[in-house]
Amino acid sequence: MPRRKRIDTSGPTLFDVPNEPVPRAVQIGRLHRYLSTAHKAHLIQIYLDLFVYVAKHGTYIDGFAGPQDPEQLDSWAAKRVLESQVRPKRLHNFFLFDAKRVQISRLRQMRDRLPPLPPPLRRRVEITRGDFNEAVVNFLKKGDIPIEPTFCLLDQRTFECRWSTVEALAGYKPEGTKIELFYFLPIGWLDRAFSATTKDDSLASIAAWWGRDDWRSLENMSNRDRAQLFTERFLELGYADVKPWPIYSDAGSTRVMYYMVHATDHSEAPRLMRRAYERVGLGAPSTELQLEIEMDLLAPPDPPTPDFPEDLFGPQGC
Ligand SMILES: C[S@@+](CC[C@H](N)C(=O)[O-])C[C@H]1O[C@@H](n2cnc3c(N)ncnc32)[C@H](O)[C@@H]1O
Repeated sequence: MPRRKRIDTSGPTLFDVPNEPVPRAVQIGRLHRYLSTAHKAHLIQIYLDLFVYVAKHGTYIDGFAGPQDPEQLDSWAAKRVLESQVRPKRLHNFFLFDAKRVQISRLRQMRDRLPPLPPPLRRRVEITRGDFNEAVVNFLKKGDIPIEPTFCLLDQRTFECRWSTVEALAGYKPEGTKIELFYFLPIGWLDRAFSATTKDDSLASIAAWWGRDDWRSLENMSNRDRAQLFTERFLELGYADVKPWPIYSDAGSTRVMYYMVHATDHSEAPRLMRRAYERVGLGAPSTELQLEIEMDLLAPPDPPTPDFPEDLFGPQGC
């Protein structure tokens, strides 16, 4: 089949090919920005500010929580999220996991340096060392997650997060809304990672990441098709809306480095993510940003949707 001609447009769509329709439950319109990897942690922080403004409370799980670059602490998602959740409406519960001892001490140090909350506000921060794929089984079995809106970041490097872990998180709540997932899907170096992997145990970890033996079907596939396929895999888990948010190699570049796949049951969540995506890195001081977020939530959303309900996610997270 002949390749489609790329059309010149003012900004990227969710996929990096402009103007091609993609199946999605909630229409959110065109993106006007190219976010790069330096923006990821900020995107998560702003999204959770919006999420909690609407949900009023919630739980944050981070399966791969240690800093990617200990020299760049502003790009560390867990730190940004914990430091920003200081208002009365906020996430209260944080469950952070990492496999490496050194990352666990960085997480503990970051937790111990958090400014105390004024009483009676409280936060619970639990840090667990271990392979998240194993630890998540016990964690979910213990039922430690309060019944409230829950967001889980799966920010792996390449193939560390097994598909069975994604399934366990998606299947945790027997009814109501599922745990919302924000899943790192490597794209920029996937072909290299596939071809560099030859040892049996590494091949087994790719199969576990994909969750099936037919992972070789991902080879020789376009990035757009891979993102589409992953979107479908998450939809098969029963999520109402799944969108792969593109993160580019540099600001202004059109090369997608990876997607952050957002799987949610909340009908407003994709619009909140879009708002966050459009605001990241604009350099507004946080008070200004808060004001903007509040004004934004009070204003009619774009594209037009019904008014924001009193408590979108419901007191029981459903
Ligand atoms: C890409 S980094 C995470 C980046 C981080 N979210 C940030 O905002 O900077 C991946 C982290 O996962 C940890 N890790 C790798 N394999 C793991 C596993 N199986 N279980 C838990 N943590 C793991 C690494 O030690 C590393 O800290």
